[in-house]
Amino acid sequence: MEAVAENLNETITLRATEDVLPWAVRTANLCLAFGGHQVLEGLNLTLQAGEAILLRGENGSGKTTLLNILSGLIRPDAGSVLLHLKGREIDVTGSSPERIARSGLGRLWQDIRLFPTMTALDNVLAASAELLDRTALAGITCWPLIRRQERVARERALHNLALVGMADRSDSSADKLSVGQMKRVALARLLQAEADFWLLDEPLAGLDQVSAEEILRLLERFNTDHGKTMLVVEHQHERMAPICGRMFFLANGHLQPERSV
Ligand SMILES: Nc1ncnc2c1ncn2[C@@H]1O[C@H](COP(=O)(O)OP(=O)(O)OP(=O)(O)O)[C@@H](O)[C@H]1O
Ligand SMILES: [Mg+2]
Repeated sequence: MEAVAENLNETITLRATEDVLPWAVRTANLCLAFGGHQVLEGLNLTLQAGEAILLRGENGSGKTTLLNILSGLIRPDAGSVLLHLKGREIDVTGSSPERIARSGLGRLWQDIRLFPTMTALDNVLAASAELLDRTALAGITCWPLIRRQERVARERALHNLALVGMADRSDSSADKLSVGQMKRVALARLLQAEADFWLLDEPLAGLDQVSAEEILRLLERFNTDHGKTMLVVEHQHERMAPICGRMFFLANGHLQPERSV
């Protein structure tokens, strides 16, 4: 059965699926070239719900490009990106990054991307799932509802900052935080956005040993206790591998499995 989602500029096709396997994200035959350079060449990847996959590859092999396609920042030349949500298969190929984010896909950026002059708390609040869809009209006509949503969002933001060990820095400006603290705030943003599928681009880059260990333990906890599905790009694979069930190496546009569970 097919139904086309309403109120979208882009077309998202929803298909009822009888597939009971708990896959979360699937790419089918992804192809992408920059100029004459073929970066991805028929790439197939399926993430099961709740699993963590480690993606390795040489510099320039296309790891970030793959994350950019999954996030909706780049449209592939061919192939598709599917999300599995509430028993339905959603084709998000070419959908906007905002639409994909609202479908539950969140990203830890290689360059972190917090708002530098905002506090840690406001950075987390800005990602609030409950505040994203609010319209200006709703702000005028539903003031009590908005106040309640903001109160709930603030409580959640403080809770999420506590989960990443940053409760005592909630009022600190983001640009006064260390790289490790910024990454922890960025993880709190993923929790605040209620993202279920996490794309993590080099989460350990730029961290000393202690900070890297803190981030690792958090990722392990959010994967095992919170059931977050993770695709992790990381050069420090020997540190990340123990918390990832499967490992792939990206070369010549294809994924090669390196280890199975
Ligand atoms: N917007 C772009 N325009 C043209 N070429 C690009 C663009 N983005 C990436 N590339 C090229 O595509 C290839 C893959 O780049 P990508 O950034 O995905 O590699 P990567 O595996 O993430 O590398 P790294 O490990 O250094 O982060 C590289 O050759 C890169 O120069
Ligand atoms: Mg990269």
